[in-house]
Amino acid sequence: MRNLSPASGPVDLVAAYAYPRTGPWLRANMVASLDGAAQRDERSAGLGGAADRSLFLLLRGLADAVVVGAGTVRAEGYGPVRPQDTWRDVREGRPPVPPLAVVSRSLDLDFDAPIFTEAAVPTIVLATASAAPDRLRAAREHADVVIAGEDALDWAAAVRALRERGFQRLLCEGGPAVLAQVVAAGLLDELCLTLSPLLLAGHPARILNGPPIPIPPHLRLGHVLEEDDFLFLRYTR
Ligand SMILES: NC(=O)c1ccc[n+]([C@@H]2O[C@H](COP(=O)([O-])OP(=O)(O)OC[C@H]3O[C@@H](n4cnc5c(N)ncnc54)[C@H](OP(=O)(O)O)[C@@H]3O)[C@@H](O)[C@H]2O)c1
Repeated sequence: MRNLSPASGPVDLVAAYAYPRTGPWLRANMVASLDGAAQRDERSAGLGGAADRSLFLLLRGLADAVVVGAGTVRAEGYGPVRPQDTWRDVREGRPPVPPLAVVSRSLDLDFDAPIFTEAAVPTIVLATASAAPDRLRAAREHADVVIAGEDALDWAAAVRALRERGFQRLLCEGGPAVLAQVVAAGLLDELCLTLSPLLLAGHPARILNGPPIPIPPHLRLGHVLEEDDFLFLRYTR
């Protein structure tokens, strides 16, 4: 064992979280309490802090597109990604924001909400062929719809479709049901995990919520950062 602390000075976060220079990459960003809870009062906001919030925004700024489950969109009341002043350099030569790509089977989404009507870059819906025709029609009126899979999303096909649209650097913001499937499909390249200094108990989901993964990926530690008792861990495949 070796001691990683005390840490030295401040960190260049843009450099620390830079995507690989070439090729596609899928990064997930999640927050958990010390006892592994990915939710507090049915949301994740109560787990994070100021530093987690600014890292959340930076990771969006670095990404070409943000994949998120409809459960998280509904629970957190997601709006569209808004441009940030701090992104001027990181988004040079790219659209002002990464679009959201919302995963949904039911298409039980409010297509008149700002997430669709006020998005600077059209929101994408990752849908399945078995979706109700009227919901699909509503989705197509307000979003860029990708059909991948019959009854359940074909994750590899969905990610391929995003890459064909030019979105190489993907960020997955969960939630736990989505992340479990991304990992099970062997698509996760990197996990950014914020460890929040809280102990919650109860029965919240962990950051992955799904059946056991037959061959669990063994991730390599990239870095550990700290602010206000929060740890910011970066693991890669
Ligand atoms: N700790 C963290 O970092 C973190 C991050 C994100 C979210 N959260 C928390 O996690 C909770 C939400 O997560 P969740 O796991 O319930 O939901 P989720 O993973 O965000 O979304 C699940 C939904 O995605 C769609 N979906 C998932 N798999 C699918 C498939 N194979 N094919 C088609 N559609 C699919 C379905 O949408 P439809 O129901 O529309 O069909 C499903 O209900 C909230 O409490 C949120 O605050 C925590």
